Amino acid sequence: MTQLKNQRIILTGATGGIGIELAKQLITHDCKLGMVGRSLEKLEQLAGQLSNNSDDITLIVADIITQQGRQTIIDKMEESFSGYDILLNTAGIMDFTSLLEQSDERIEAVFQTNVIAPMQLCKKVLPYMKLQNKGHIVNVGSVFGSIGFAWFTSYSTSKFALRGFSQALRRELAETPVKVSYIAPRAVKTSLNSSAVYAMAKEVKMNMDSPDWVAKQIIHSIIKNKKEKYLGFPESLFVRINAIFSGNC
Ligand SMILES: NC(=O)c1ccc[n+]([C@@H]2O[C@H](COP(=O)([O-])OP(=O)(O)OC[C@H]3O[C@@H](n4cnc5c(N)ncnc54)[C@H](OP(=O)(O)O)[C@@H]3O)[C@@H](O)[C@H]2O)c1
Repeated sequence: MTQLKNQRIILTGATGGIGIELAKQLITHDCKLGMVGRSLEKLEQLAGQLSNNSDDITLIVADIITQQGRQTIIDKMEESFSGYDILLNTAGIMDFTSLLEQSDERIEAVFQTNVIAPMQLCKKVLPYMKLQNKGHIVNVGSVFGSIGFAWFTSYSTSKFALRGFSQALRRELAETPVKVSYIAPRAVKTSLNSSAVYAMAKEVKMNMDSPDWVAKQIIHSIIKNKKEKYLGFPESLFVRINAIFSGNC
C-alpha cells in the first residue's frame, strides 16, 4: 500500500475531464502535484479550484510530444519539488472514424501522444527513480486497449501498445524498486468523446462512467499498487473473454 502524502506526482492530461478530477482528489491526499497541460489558462483555472497550499502544486505548460515539452516537465518538477515519485500518464487523444477516413498525420499524432510520449517520459524519469530507490509509473489505458473496437482503430491500437509497453517495462524493472501500472477505464463522460460517440453510446447502450468515479478508482489502484486494473463490469470480464476468443470475430 502506498501513502500519497508528500509523494511528488507528475500528472499529464491535468486539464482533461479525468485529469481535472484526478488533480482535485490527489491534492486532498497532501501530495505535491505537477499539473501538465498545454494551456496555462486552463491550468490556472484548475489551480483556482484546488483547496490547498499553493506550494503543493506547480503548473507545467508542456506539449508532451516534443522533446522540449518533456524536458520542461522534468525541470519544473526538480525546481519545485526537487524531483518526482510518481508519473501518471493521463494525456491522450482519440478519433472516432474509419481508418480510411483518418489522415496519416492524425494516426501519427494518436501514436505520438498515447504511446511514444509516455514511453519517452518514462525514459526521462527512470534514472532518477532508480537512483532514489523508489518510483511508480502509472499509464492510463482503456478497455479498448484489450478489445479492438471498430471505428476507434488507431486509438484502440495505441492503447494495445500502451498496455504491452506497461507489461514489458514492468517485467524489465522487476528487480528494481520502480513499479509500473496500467489502469484501463471503460467509456467516460468527458470531451474526449465527440457528440457522435455519445450518440453511438446511447444507441448501443454503452456504459459511461463519471470522471470523478474513474479518478477515484485510479487513485485507489495506485494506493493498492495494482499492476493492471480494468474499471467497470461487465467490461472487465469482456476483456478476459476477448483475450481467449478474439480469433472467432
Ligand atoms: N473519456 C473516455 O471515454 C476514456 C475512456 C478510457 C480511457 N480514457 C483515457 O483517459 C485519459 C484521459 O482522457 P480524458 O477523457 O480526460 O480526455 P480529455 O478530456 O480529452 O483530456 C485530454 C488531456 O490530454 C491532454 N493532452 C492531449 N495531447 C497533449 C499533448 N500533446 N501534450 C500535453 N497534453 C496533451 C489535454 O491537454 P490540453 O488541455 O492541453 O488539450 C487534456 O489535458 C486518456 O489517456 C484517455 O485515452 C478515456
